[in-house]
Formats: sequence, C-alpha cells, structure tokens
Amino acid sequence: MQEGAAAQAVKAFDHKAANPKTADALVIFGVTGDLAHKMVFPALYAMAKRGNLSVPVVGVAGSKWTLAQLRERATDSIKQAGAIDDQVALDRLLAQLRYVGGDYNDPATFKALKQAIGKSARPAYYLAIPPALFGPVIKGLGAAGLVDQARVIVEKPFGRDLASARELNDVARSVFADDSIFRIDHYLGKEAIMNLLYFRFANSFLEPIWNRNYIASVQITLAEDFGVKGRGAFYESAGCLRDVIQNHLFQVVALLAMEPPAYQGFGGVHTEKVKVFQAMSPLGPDDMVRGQYIGYRSEPGVAQDSDVETFCALRLQINSWRWAGVPWYLRSGKCLATTAAEILVELKPPPQRLFDDAAPLGGRPNYVRFRLSPHSATAFAARVKRAGQNFIGDQREFYLQEGQKSDERPYERLLTDAMAGNGGLFTREDAVEAAWAVVGPVLTNCHPAIPYEQGSWGPQEADALIAPTSQWCNPDTDDGSPR
Ligand code: BG6
Repeated sequence: MQEGAAAQAVKAFDHKAANPKTADALVIFGVTGDLAHKMVFPALYAMAKRGNLSVPVVGVAGSKWTLAQLRERATDSIKQAGAIDDQVALDRLLAQLRYVGGDYNDPATFKALKQAIGKSARPAYYLAIPPALFGPVIKGLGAAGLVDQARVIVEKPFGRDLASARELNDVARSVFADDSIFRIDHYLGKEAIMNLLYFRFANSFLEPIWNRNYIASVQITLAEDFGVKGRGAFYESAGCLRDVIQNHLFQVVALLAMEPPAYQGFGGVHTEKVKVFQAMSPLGPDDMVRGQYIGYRSEPGVAQDSDVETFCALRLQINSWRWAGVPWYLRSGKCLATTAAEILVELKPPPQRLFDDAAPLGGRPNYVRFRLSPHSATAFAARVKRAGQNFIGDQREFYLQEGQKSDERPYERLLTDAMAGNGGLFTREDAVEAAWAVVGPVLTNCHPAIPYEQGSWGPQEADALIAPTSQWCNPDTDDGSPR
C-alpha cells in the first residue's frame, strides 16, 4: 500500500480522527450518582491529564448541592480509582466544574442549565441517569432550546425491551440528529474487544476456517466473583440478561460472527453487526437457564421473593450461510468462582481419526481462545506429539499477548470520542432494536431462576444446556496465561 493510502486506511478506523466540531461543553446528568462516582470522574481526570478536556463540565442532579460539594465528590472519586498523580490536571478539572441542581421535570432546571453552559454552542449531554429519566431530560433539553448542534450520550441498557427501545429512539430522534446520538456500551471501548475486530480482519489465516465447516461451537463467559454491590434496586429492574447479555455479550458475538465490512470505516462495521442480530433466531424458554445466587434476596433493594436472575446461560443460533448449525453459548453471572471474561471457539475434529487419542476422546478439540479480561490475550490450541514411540500427544496453546497494556480505559476513550463526534465505538439504533428482538420472547416467558451457591459456576442446569455439543470451559482464576 502506498504511504498516502495507508494513512487514509488508518484514519478510516481511527476513532480519534480530528474533528473541528468537538463539543465545547460537557454536561453530566446524574453527576451525584454511582456511575459518575465510579466511572465518569476518573475518566474526566484521565482526559484532563491527557489534555483532552478543556471545556466547561456542568454537573446536573436532583440534589441541592454546592459546587464545593461536587468538587469534593469528584476528588473522592478520583482518589478511590487510584492515586492522584497530576495535581495540576486535577485542579484544572475542578476549576472547570459547574453545578446545576433541580428536578428533571421542571423547566427551571433547564433554564439554569442554559445559564451554566453560557456561550458554549456545541454541548455534549451525558445521561448518567436511570433509563426512566432519559425521556424527560431529552424532552426538557428540546423544550429549552438547548439542542442545536448538541450531542447526547446515553448509557445502556437502552430500553428494557424492543418497544421501550423504539420509544426512546423516537424521543431521542425527535430532538437530536441521528449522528448526534451516542449509545454507550463500554465493552466497545475495551482494548480486548476492539482487538476482536482487528484480529479477525487484519489477518487472513483465520477467515478460511471461520465458519460452520470448521467451527463446532462458540462459548463466551463473563464471570464475576462479586454480587450486586449495593445496586440491588437497579438489578431488580434489569437482571443479568438486560444488564450484560443483550448488550455487552451480544456486541462480542456480533464482532465474532459478522462478515468482513465491505469498506473501510465503522459505517461498514455497524451494518455487518446488525445483520448478525437479524440472522439470530428469537430465543425460546428452553434456550436459556436462569440462576440466582443464594443470598441475593437479602441484598438491600431486592424483593424477598425476587425471581430476577443473577446468572444467565443461553444458546443462540445464527441462521446465516456462515453460521447455520453452529451453537453459540453465552453465560454470565454474579458471585461466580472468579472474575474473568473469555471466548472459546471450538473447532471440529479432523475428518479422519488416525490416532487413538484424537478428540473427543483425547479431551477438547482444537480451539481459538480470546481472553477478554482481566488481560487481553489470544491463544490457539493444537495437539502436539509426546516424545516416545507412541503416536499420542497433548493439546498445547500458542499464546499471544499484547506486551504494552493500554492506560486508556473504556469510559475515557468513549467520552473523548463522543465529545469529538466519532460514533465508531457506539451502538447504532438498528443494532439495539435487533438485539432486543432476539431476547424479547424470553423477557416475559422464561423458566424460574434456579438458586446457586456463591463461588460456584451457576446452576448445574447450565451444563445440560451446552452438553449436547460441548462443555463449559471455566476461565482460570489466574490471568488467562497459556494452558
Ligand atoms: C456493567 C454492568 O454494564 O458491566 C455490571 O452493569 C457489570 O453489572 C459490568 O459488572 C461488567 O463490566 P466490566 O467492564 O467490569 O467487565
């Protein structure tokens, strides 16, 4: 490739491509909340350190806080996320903060916001608030005439089902232009997830085997060894399926299953991802096992007779030319044995059984393993002959790990992108709706949640779900190094 063409190719996928229309104010609704404390302030601090945040930052919330209180909260959040290693950047960020307190249904709140924004002409509004408040805030911004040239950044879960997602999309589109709506799924801002897209299409050796002729099954595990961590009330309204599967894990499936985009840039990626969701069969009750960790019902904010799932395993079918007949197994849960996320793509055994120890008798067939967290890594497992006279061997992994870890966390990356107007790492409306269409039937028609012990791998019924084709591969407690 010529130098100019190479530079252009990089730019087409460069989520940081310079954009003269960068937002000139950041407004955070829900600034006193949990998400702001855990994720947003540390991201703003990281942006400030990198010189990527030199605009007013206006916090909005229902409480009557003072600016001093907000600054204290921001400092506390940043301290809890790690040491303060750049006092100048922190002071700059604190000086950029402003605060507006008021009811989201009261026009006076938006009037006060208008004043706080001042001369900024292209604000970015980040809705770090419960989904039920998205509508009132978006409408309030529209009614106050605060949306011209503005962007809105919306947190997942985007809707609770297909109907509410459509409704929200309609509300958002009635006020903001399509390309000014940024739906956050922080998984898309993770290095390991971005690597899936890169790894698949920057290499040619994978493509010939990446289909139903060579792949027997795919499994994806997102395990957490902690519970709902004080988010019981939120979890009661979401459950595992809505919290991480319809969004995070479905995005992972889409990146693994999509066709190569026909052209450079994220437009093609979005289009291909939607097609994956559209090719999925809607789930039925027998495609899913729901579990609930013992003790969940005693968490604050949780009903004593709650049937909300804290564990979910499901079997997906993608009815495309590439994937017909290949089962996709997804599983996620709280209070499991470890915290790790991993993908295992199992290959079919060789067509002829020349050696006695060949799979399936000799263990797992060959596979490709993508470790997503805590660290990103890729491994290929192949059988190698053991020294000696006999033709028997062991499965060993080739193991690739990125030596240099990125210090850019998903929220920093995504907020920087949204401020700059780069929508590559955000989810598109049609993708969100197509994903809801797949899970829709089991939101209302599903088997009861089965209790499971904390520290286990969820209910045994999940093993039966995968048993016809494979078995779950539990990610190790270590960093996912070679097996
Ligand atoms: C969030 C969910 O979106 O993702 C949480 O609300 C979950 O329940 C989290 O723990 C997992 O994300 P990560 O980046 O910690 O793997």
